[in-house]
Amino acid sequence: MTDPHTPVLEARGLERRFRDGRLDVAVLSGVNFVLHPGDQTAIIGASGSGKSTLLHLLGGLDRPTAGEVRLLGTDWTRMSEARRGHLRNQHLGFVYQFHHLLPELTAAENVALPLLIRRIGSRKAREEAQHWLGQVDLAHRLDHKPAELSGGERQRVAIARALVTRPSAILADEPTGNLDQERAAQVFELLRAMNRSTGTALALVTHDVTLARELDQSVELVKGHLKQSSLAAASPAPQA
Ligand SMILES: Nc1ncnc2c1ncn2[C@@H]1O[C@H](COP(=O)(O)OP(=O)(O)O)[C@@H](O)[C@H]1O
Ligand SMILES: [Mg+2]
Repeated sequence: MTDPHTPVLEARGLERRFRDGRLDVAVLSGVNFVLHPGDQTAIIGASGSGKSTLLHLLGGLDRPTAGEVRLLGTDWTRMSEARRGHLRNQHLGFVYQFHHLLPELTAAENVALPLLIRRIGSRKAREEAQHWLGQVDLAHRLDHKPAELSGGERQRVAIARALVTRPSAILADEPTGNLDQERAAQVFELLRAMNRSTGTALALVTHDVTLARELDQSVELVKGHLKQSSLAAASPAPQA
């Protein structure tokens, strides 16, 4: 059993440098970040500030130049790709700006896929997929393919797919960036509702300050450093 107080994700002294021709550019320097069970945290910052880079490091999709990332207390930065892939499938769900659904599969098949990868039987995987598509109000779209769904519906399928493994955290990179304002608000509300109802921690990258303000906490990337954002201070004091 995992201790309920162990952070889902904890990054210490993260540094990520990229070689750009002869230039060695530090995109992140000395970044510390903690996501506890059930947290909802926005990661904001200007375009190119390193938000996606940070999320990739947190999700074990990339390795830091220095520093470590702990997933449920285990440093997984130096593990093999296969082991990281296994941990990722066990504990994390991902939602991106573009849905990354497989076009040939139906909504239910797309959502069931992470379970099939875990070798869960196809009937059980289908049942779970139906359950999570119901949770995102798409019970009537099980057998639709991505091309037969609207942009907002596709993102909701992607959210169901991220939740189907009952992960400890969802890492979302600009999940509403490709939607109009109304759909963006709906998808954003859905992610928050799922965080509340399932206790799945949410780390959400966005450049939309209005959305970020709605979350419990926000941090901001500025010149490679991560700071507590000033959004909370700028919002009105809570009503007594
Ligand atoms: N694989 C890579 N190789 C070289 N430079 C990269 C790579 N990935 C990201 N960068 C650089 O890192 C910086 C931050 O990128 P990114 O994390 O995508 O920013 P954001 O998501 O905040 O817009 C950018 O200057 C980008 O060009
Ligand atoms: Mg990005």
